[in-house]
Amino acid sequence: MSEQRPAGRPRSEKLRVGVLASGRGSNLQAIIDAIEAGALQARIAVVLSNKKDAQALERARHHSVTDVFLDSKPYAGQPDSREAYDRAILEVLRKHEVELIALAGYMKIVTPVLIKAYPHRIMNIHPSLLPAFPGLEVQKKALDWGVKIVGCTVHFVTESVDEGPIIIQAAVPVLEGDTADTLSERILAEEHKIYPRAIQLYAEGRLRVEGRHVLVAGATEATTASLMNPA
Ligand code: GAR
Repeated sequence: MSEQRPAGRPRSEKLRVGVLASGRGSNLQAIIDAIEAGALQARIAVVLSNKKDAQALERARHHSVTDVFLDSKPYAGQPDSREAYDRAILEVLRKHEVELIALAGYMKIVTPVLIKAYPHRIMNIHPSLLPAFPGLEVQKKALDWGVKIVGCTVHFVTESVDEGPIIIQAAVPVLEGDTADTLSERILAEEHKIYPRAIQLYAEGRLRVEGRHVLVAGATEATTASLMNPA
């Protein structure tokens, strides 16, 4: 059993989140919007990207959030290049006193260097109902498979990619004529709701991990009405 909020942290101070993103940054934007709307009691201490031209960095600057581009190329020649890169990330995160890492469209696999430094303190958002469709191009895979309900998942990051304990999920029906793009768009709208919510639960100290299970204190459970498709 592990308490998710660092012990001894003054409750009056806002949770310091470090966001790692590689691209568009719409989930980062949803987190920023939730903070600005007062729905998420946290502050983004830093946004870090491995891509110089990531829109996520621009979004951070636009909201006066510290942004850092950290090039992975200088580490490429080393035998433990991925770990060396994560050590450099760790330095940035520590400098900005990050307490929780949120991966938001971060397209590199994080190594044990980060995971051990932030045990059950790294979240990821994935555009499928895990454990179905881990990996990439998951909306296309879901369509090819013919599933009727898809969705998205926020989970804690462990050393097994896309397999960490699940915090929150949202389901989306697959509609006739859907393409990977239309489906992605509807899933993304749900991602933007569940990611800030998951971070807020963490900020409130309401998440506890027991094995594969994330216990959510005082959670309002979903209604028992099922989502059927076709209805
Ligand atoms: C999101 O759909 C996110 O779930 C996905 O990348 C997209 C990033 O969009 N992440 C993964 O596939 C991670 N395995 P964004 O940059 O607009 O937030």
